[in-house]
Amino acid sequence: MQHALRSLRVLQHAVFAALVAICASRAWAIGVHPGVLLGVTVPLVACYAAGPLLARRFGAGPSGWVPAGTVGVLWLLALTGCWIASVIVAPDHVWLAFSLWLLAGQVLSFGWAIAYAAAALAIVVLHPWSETGHLTTAGVLGPSLGAVFAVVVSRGQMALVSEVLERQKLVQSLVRAQQEADSLHTELADAQRRAGALSERARLARDIHDTLAQGFSSIVLLSRAGSEADDPVRLRDSLQRIGQTAGDNLLEARRVVAALTPSDLAGSSLVAALTRVVDRFADETGLHTELHLDGEPGGLPTTIEVALLRTAQGALANVRRHARASRADVSLSVLADSVRLDIVDDGIGFDPAAAPPVPDPAHGGYGLPSTRARLRELGGGLEIESAPGQGTAISAWLPLGTGSAP
Ligand SMILES: Nc1ncnc2c1ncn2[C@@H]1O[C@H](COP(=O)(O)OP(=O)(O)OP(=O)(O)O)[C@@H](O)[C@H]1O
Ligand SMILES: [Mg+2]
Repeated sequence: MQHALRSLRVLQHAVFAALVAICASRAWAIGVHPGVLLGVTVPLVACYAAGPLLARRFGAGPSGWVPAGTVGVLWLLALTGCWIASVIVAPDHVWLAFSLWLLAGQVLSFGWAIAYAAAALAIVVLHPWSETGHLTTAGVLGPSLGAVFAVVVSRGQMALVSEVLERQKLVQSLVRAQQEADSLHTELADAQRRAGALSERARLARDIHDTLAQGFSSIVLLSRAGSEADDPVRLRDSLQRIGQTAGDNLLEARRVVAALTPSDLAGSSLVAALTRVVDRFADETGLHTELHLDGEPGGLPTTIEVALLRTAQGALANVRRHARASRADVSLSVLADSVRLDIVDDGIGFDPAAAPPVPDPAHGGYGLPSTRARLRELGGGLEIESAPGQGTAISAWLPLGTGSAP
């Protein structure tokens, strides 16, 4: 469409140039003095040529090359003045009215364009009549048709221009919408990347807390016991346990980094892993500790097995550090649509409703919140029943399949 508009513009200039050439040669032929002819033709052409320059300087109308607004109107009036002067010199110059009608449709509003066309038509029709005294039908009809045709063509051109502008606006808004969609997409991808990084960070933090931190705390306790032992046999036993715990944790550290399942679970069932954890706990603390089973725990998804194992490790670490208990019981119950793990001790208990310790690297406080978060991510939850002097019962539950536990 842009191409069609450009062609129309070129055609309009060509028509003007051709009419000027024809009119000048006819004026020459009827003996108009060359100086006079030049005197009217040069200003006419110069004024026409000033149109694009004025449009560039003061702003163009919709057609893109005629000046807009008041400047456009003044330019058209100046051009009309030059034309009238040329008509006075050589009557055949009335033919140039065709170009002026085309311009009127581009510079003026529709109403004013009609009025202008009528006025110019009056000059075109009446001037030869005043000269010759004859008024023929062809002399009236021809210019009238020319005026109507020129105004209609230029209005059509304007309609075409406004359609092109509308399309350009539409394309621009589509491009903007596309750019916004692209930037939203990028933001979304960034947010997803950040969320992925955060969730990986949370996984590492939990795994480090439930495995390495507990291992280091065991080593601290064992080394304290060893340094207090006078008996070389007990000392050697402590050192062996320290070595064993450090070795286990080294292995666990590698598995955490590689995001592998815990070593206790690797290649074995949840029950076997829990048995190992409970036995080790009893061995290291000397507490009476038992594992109870209810239901068939085979075939649980690995994510659930890992969460339950970590819950048991975290809860037993709390028993060891805080409970001052004489016994601890771990119970795994597998129901039709959920699985539950309880860790109960008969220690000093605590008030779960009291303000929880603010997590900090020196004193901890990460354990229970991170266990709860881990279970919630899998659609489950954590319940704590405890009171000072009455022991503690930690109960974790997870839904199996699509069902959820009460
Ligand atoms: N079995 C328990 N017996 C007595 N108190 C407990 C028991 N379990 C937890 N608590 C209390 O709950 C608090 C919070 O436990 P949590 O596991 O969140 O943190 P932490 O054990 O203090 O530190 P971290 O686990 O980060 O090393 C503990 O400081 C302790 O006071
Ligand atoms: Mg803890």
